[in-house]
Amino acid sequence: MRKILITGALGQIGSELTVELRRIYGANNVVASNRRIKEGHEKLIESGPFEIVDITNGKQLHEVVKKHNINTIINLAAILSAVGEKHPEQCWNINMNGLYNVLEVAREENCMVFTPSSIAAFGPTTPKDKTPQDTIQRPTTMYGVTKVAGELLCDYYFLKYGVDTRGVRFPGLISYETLPGGGTTDYAVHIYYDALKNKKYTSFIAKGTMMDMMYMPDALDAIIQLMEADPSKLIHRNAFNVTAMSFDPEMIAASIRKFIPEFELDYDVDPVRQAIAESWPNSLDDSAAREEWGWNPKYDLDAMTKDMLEKLKVKLGL
Ligand code: NAD
Ligand code: SER
Repeated sequence: MRKILITGALGQIGSELTVELRRIYGANNVVASNRRIKEGHEKLIESGPFEIVDITNGKQLHEVVKKHNINTIINLAAILSAVGEKHPEQCWNINMNGLYNVLEVAREENCMVFTPSSIAAFGPTTPKDKTPQDTIQRPTTMYGVTKVAGELLCDYYFLKYGVDTRGVRFPGLISYETLPGGGTTDYAVHIYYDALKNKKYTSFIAKGTMMDMMYMPDALDAIIQLMEADPSKLIHRNAFNVTAMSFDPEMIAASIRKFIPEFELDYDVDPVRQAIAESWPNSLDDSAAREEWGWNPKYDLDAMTKDMLEKLKVKLGL
C-alpha cells in the first residue's frame, strides 16, 4: 500500500496531482504539504491530511515522513526558471539542498522518490530539434543547473544506496486549476485567460520561438505511470524526456482562433525570458519513455485548446 507525501502540493502540478492521487490511492494515503498555506486551496487542504513542510528543513521533513509512515515522496517543491533568474540563491537552496534532504530522508526511511526535471536541463549547445534522451546538458540558467544536478543526484542515490528514484523532464505545463509559479512557458497559460477575458494577448515570448508543451492531464498520467512502472524495464531513471506538442505563440493563437475567431495576438518581448526560451530545445525525442514505460499523451494542441477554453470559461464565470 502506498503512503505518499507530496511536497510543494499547493503549486501548479501539486494542486491537481493531490486530487488525482487521493482518488486512486485513498484520501488518507496521500499527505499534501507545502512550506506555507496559500489562499484558494482550502478545499484541497480539507480533502485529506495536510502538513506544513519546508524541504530545506530536513528535520521537519523527516518528522512528517515518520509520522505518516510515508513510503513514496513526490517532490514538487521548487523555484522555476524566471523566478530562479531573479533569485538564483533561493533557487539553488530549495532545488538542491531541498532535494538532498528529500533523498536523505528517503534513504533512511526506505521511500521511493519522484522528482520532475525539465526541458531546462538542456542548454544552447544541446541539439535543438528532436533533442535525444541522452545528449549534451550544459544549461545557462540557475534553474537548469539545479535540474541537471538534481538528475545526477537522484541517479547517485539509486546507484549508491538503492533508493528507487524516478523522474521526467517536463516541458511547459498548461492547466486551468492553479496559475503557474513563475516560469518561461507561462505565456501559454496566460494566453487562454486573456483570450477569454479580453479577446487579445500580448506575448512576452517572441514569434517563432518553439517550445515543448503538455496539458496537465497528460502530465499527471506521466507521473503516475512512471511511478507504477515495472523497475526491471527502466533503463533510464532520472530523467525521461516527455512531450505532447511543440508550438510557438503564432501556433497557439491559431488554435485559439478556431474557437474565438476575433482573438488578437501582439508582442512585448521580455529579454530575460526570451533568452531562457532560446536556450531550450524546440522539440524533444521522447521515445525512451514510450519504449520503457508506455508513455503516450492524449492531448494535442487543438484538443487542449478546446478543453482549456471550456473549463476556464466555467472557472471565470464567463
Ligand atoms: P509551482 O511553482 O507551481 O509550485 C511549487 C510549490 O512549491 C509552491 O506551492 C511553493 O509554495 C512550494 N515551495 C517552494 N519552496 C518550497 C519549500 N522550500 N518547501 C516546500 N514547498 C515549497 O511549481 P510546479 O509548476 O507545480 O512545479 C513542480 C515541479 O515540476 C518543479 O520541480 C518544477 O521544476 C517541475 N516542472 C514544472 C513545469 C511546469 O511547467 N509547471 C515544467 C517542468 C518541470
Ligand atoms: N515551465 C517551466 C519553466 O518555464 C519549465 O521547467 O520554468
